[in-house]
Amino acid sequence: MALRKRFPILKEKVYLNSCSQGALSIDVREAYEKYMRDWDEKGSPWDYWVERMEAARHAFAGLVNADPNEVAVMTSVSAAVSALMSALDFTGERNRIVIGDFAFPTVGQIVHAQELRHAQVVHVPTAGNIIPVERFADAIDERTLLVAISHVSFRNGSKRDVEAIAELAHQKGAYILLDSYQALGTMPIDVKKLNVDFLVGGVLKYLLGSAGLAYLYVHKDHILDLTPTSIGWFSQANIFDMDIYANTPSPTARRFESGTPPVPNIYAALAGMKLVQSVGIQKIEARIRELTGALKEAAMQRGFNIVTPIDPNKHGAMIAIRSHKVDLLVKWLEQDNVIVSSRDDNLRISPHFYNNFDDIDRLVDCLTKHSELMV
Ligand SMILES: Cc1ncc(COP(=O)(O)O)c(C=O)c1O
Repeated sequence: MALRKRFPILKEKVYLNSCSQGALSIDVREAYEKYMRDWDEKGSPWDYWVERMEAARHAFAGLVNADPNEVAVMTSVSAAVSALMSALDFTGERNRIVIGDFAFPTVGQIVHAQELRHAQVVHVPTAGNIIPVERFADAIDERTLLVAISHVSFRNGSKRDVEAIAELAHQKGAYILLDSYQALGTMPIDVKKLNVDFLVGGVLKYLLGSAGLAYLYVHKDHILDLTPTSIGWFSQANIFDMDIYANTPSPTARRFESGTPPVPNIYAALAGMKLVQSVGIQKIEARIRELTGALKEAAMQRGFNIVTPIDPNKHGAMIAIRSHKVDLLVKWLEQDNVIVSSRDDNLRISPHFYNNFDDIDRLVDCLTKHSELMV
């Protein structure tokens, strides 16, 4: 079946909001229906459901070039970051967390929560629409335990030079945590090449899997050094020991997991990720570049204020354009059957492989119609 036909919403609407949530495919709908059928027909097929969870672990490991034993299956990025933080010791000299100001708020809030555990948080401020790498160099020192950055900003789509920042962190003996939620499914991501210690992300956006499933990657060399206290019975070496007298963490990244996994979301995530892989990450990246390129060009011609870095190597799948009444603009566009979203004073436009140049043209026509809001 033609790709666009797999996404029924595209018949009615111009859907350019994958940075918020991927469009629903018939594959993901069918996956949820299959979950219901399995539940109905088999009752409680837990062996199969645990096997599905392992398939979800393998799917993510394949996507980011990790070993499945380095991947914890989580329910949200927040849960993943919290579990990771619970394994870090902030009571010594090395108690600082350096965080880039394009971090998603949940990461900022969780690192500040660690102040109760003696962490000190150091913010690395933005300079216009980027964070220059030198600012990280200034902030990271021998007291830094962890550097936390977002790969692609949820605010303006700008992309971090992860390898350079990872190098700075490692030179000073610090760990680096990368939040790739806004990048996963839009570009090749290789944890070994990026040289990150930890990576988090979920399936809601460009991985097309809906809410409820996320991942934590932990480099194999760190797993046994880290003992999380935010855990549950699925983190144990043998889940079915049912031991109430001891905590015996799994020797793999499973030690960061919690309770009963989100089985329906696992079905959906597998379907979404399969669809993404069947198109191919390289092809998706190239397609997104074409579409964001066309959008930037049309926006510049009309004099709109693009707040995303223009260089295609410096942004992800989202292009942000300033509007002084952005919430109103989002509503008006919705009335025109164009779905986008906003953050700060920016309209966020985020194409995926299922979009085409007509979608970009229709959006730009609508923005031109409402050009009084485009300043
Ligand atoms: C970069 C980034 N990190 C994290 C999140 C949210 O994570 P969680 O799964 O905890 O809701 C988002 C969602 O918008 C995001 O864009």
